Amino acid sequence: MTTDYELMTMQLREFAKEESDFLPLLSNASALIMASMDRLNWAGFYLIKDGALILGPFQGKPACIRIAVGRGVCGTAFDKDETLRVENVHEFKGHIACDSASNSEIVIPLHHDGKLVGVMDIDSPELSRFSIEDQKGLEAFAAVLDEMADYSSYV
Ligand code: SME
Repeated sequence: MTTDYELMTMQLREFAKEESDFLPLLSNASALIMASMDRLNWAGFYLIKDGALILGPFQGKPACIRIAVGRGVCGTAFDKDETLRVENVHEFKGHIACDSASNSEIVIPLHHDGKLVGVMDIDSPELSRFSIEDQKGLEAFAAVLDEMADYSSYV
């Protein structure tokens, strides 16, 4: 199945128009990812709080609650403020294995008012699951969150 990123991003925009608070919006964003893409085992968010990335809305197995900036794929993507597309997580130094089924991963930093606020993390049991086209589609999806998500209720 190829993912219809245009449709997925449009649906996210509709959710955001109705309610921009980060909690319902990121919850529905993780559900949209899981419903729209195949060969995934985890999709969700980590948000920065008191200097660490804290688990946010997600779909998948229970995951690590706290990730230090600079640690694992999520902490490294946040630290560098760049998308990380990891073909084989077992070869990524410091990878944090929350779900042993994960073999590849993509992590995209999230921003609000030009400031880094967290990351979107998507895991797959398949090696090299995420192509450059997936990266582009998911970055466009994340851009809707950058533009529309409201984090003011996050303390
Ligand atoms: N594998 C991630 C940790 C988060 S879980 O996969 C949900 C990492 O190395 O940052």
